Amino acid sequence: MCGIVGIIGREPVAVRLVEALKRLEYRGYDSAGIATLASGRLERRRAEGKLRNLAARLETEPLAGVVGIGHTRWATHGRPTENNAHPHASRRLAVVHNGIIENFRELREELTAKGHVFATETDTEVVAHLVTDEMDGGLAAEAAVAAALPRLKGAFALAFIFQGENDLLIGARQGAPLAVGYGEGEMFLGSDALALAPFTDSITYLEDGDWAVLTRDGVSFRNAAGETVSRARQRSQASAFLIDKGNHRHFMAKEIHEQPEVVGRTLAHYLDMSNGCVRLPFELPFDASKMTRVTLAACGTAYYAGLIGKYWIERYARIPVEIDVASEYRYREAPLDSSGVMIVVSQSGETADTLACLRYAKQQGQKVLSVVNVATSTIARESDAAALTLAGPEIGVASTKAFTCQLSVLACLAIAIGRARGVLTPERERELVSDLIAVPGLMAEATKREPQIEQVAAALSKASDVLYLGRGTSFPLALEGALKLKEISYIHAEGYAAGELKHGPIALIDEEMPVIVIAPYDSVYEKTVSNMQEVAARGGRIILIADRRAANEAAIDFQAVVAMPDMAPDFAPIVYAVPAQMLAYHTAVAMGKDVDQPRNLAKSVTVE
Ligand code: G6P
Repeated sequence: MCGIVGIIGREPVAVRLVEALKRLEYRGYDSAGIATLASGRLERRRAEGKLRNLAARLETEPLAGVVGIGHTRWATHGRPTENNAHPHASRRLAVVHNGIIENFRELREELTAKGHVFATETDTEVVAHLVTDEMDGGLAAEAAVAAALPRLKGAFALAFIFQGENDLLIGARQGAPLAVGYGEGEMFLGSDALALAPFTDSITYLEDGDWAVLTRDGVSFRNAAGETVSRARQRSQASAFLIDKGNHRHFMAKEIHEQPEVVGRTLAHYLDMSNGCVRLPFELPFDASKMTRVTLAACGTAYYAGLIGKYWIERYARIPVEIDVASEYRYREAPLDSSGVMIVVSQSGETADTLACLRYAKQQGQKVLSVVNVATSTIARESDAAALTLAGPEIGVASTKAFTCQLSVLACLAIAIGRARGVLTPERERELVSDLIAVPGLMAEATKREPQIEQVAAALSKASDVLYLGRGTSFPLALEGALKLKEISYIHAEGYAAGELKHGPIALIDEEMPVIVIAPYDSVYEKTVSNMQEVAARGGRIILIADRRAANEAAIDFQAVVAMPDMAPDFAPIVYAVPAQMLAYHTAVAMGKDVDQPRNLAKSVTVE
């Protein structure tokens, strides 16, 4: 991951580099740095930790220069120290990098044997030395980059500036995103259009293998073979305003509360409310009546959304669905035939493993549909059709509103595929659509439980381990609830299928262990009650998330009941996600954790 930016301008660039980095901090925040050319000489400022540390350093030690590059890091190779922070530099150049250079050991040995001295633990430093080596051999900057790039294995986006070259900025892309921005007599590079939005809305996305040579007056693109190519310029929709937290303490809180609105907006995009049916805003890129199997691939929270989608697609469209985490799926050599389709789910649309699954499926002749939040992302662009989630920019690292929007879209897709296959009658579709229409209002109702959830969270914050249980579609939600808690509170939490409890995890239950049970009043509710009895019999402390009917019928002495509004159970995971997210949020707040930027995580994961 990591965010990179470059500016070749007429005015000093340091402040603008930091401004762009602020918009890229979602990609990592272990350290940050910038390098500029001040009177033709390369200078750097770097700082460990969040971007604010770099900004503070620049206040006391400002950097001049109208050409510069910047970086915000999510550490892969080497600890997040100042010394390992980018930009990495030699006497000839400075470089910033997003991705991993897989053959860095081999290159490092080769270059060390030639006399290069390495100063950091990073993989990136080999890029600086490799290009420097080519320049020492007599090549000019551009030719040296051209000679070095084919030697790099792995995924990367790179930006270079060169000692003494006041009108040159070079960017390269192989498997990690990079965009060129056009200004008036100045040019920009950035990991995404969002970073460049304060400066320009005119953007070109590099394709894989491309590299770009920028001067103040323009850009020329080369492909992997070194041929000059043209790449389309487009208007970016990314907003120049730095998205704010409104009246909330954290982005995560704001995003949790935005859900009734963004889920409503997303559903309105996919539903014909007056006729009670689903109306997809795009053509399905496959014949749903002929397809034999759906394969779903995604990572993290998007994977859990996909897991719930599997239940819905199997139930409403009667088609077998296979699902796997993308990092496993991509290397499994799973057989795919052209009568199946792949659905990938991703908020950012840039997750490296998910993108690899998309490409694998396309190579095997399958059509790929993506459920994606960023319309200009690589996944949205490379899939045969993109089903957009209209969650808007999600800033909190722990995904919330993107998840419930993904669920909303997956529900609509399941219904649309079911109808196309002749499985759902119009009456059944109308019922399901009417249940979906009720969801945003029910979510708004669920947010009103916040004061009670805050109390439950105060107790939860003392726990060292927490179990989450659920059955049916509540099982993936239990996994997601546990993920939310560990991501932001660092409390160890696990989600289990309630029926699986007796096959091992029940051994963990004692008076100390909070067990959070997600149990809407659905067809498997009574089975879940039996599992709760098993927990209660062993002294486990149960926190139940269910409607009052369900809580009363269970007749168990719960430690707490978070009472949810009564609802038809089919789409309960979209509504029940709200208390699960709030519970994690308030637990982390009670513990004084950095909710929006939890340790070790990043929002967009463009490395394997
Ligand atoms: C990271 C984020 C998660 C996210 C996952 C997949 O791990 O921290 O919140 O669920 O990546 O990201 P994607 O953008 O593909 O949904």
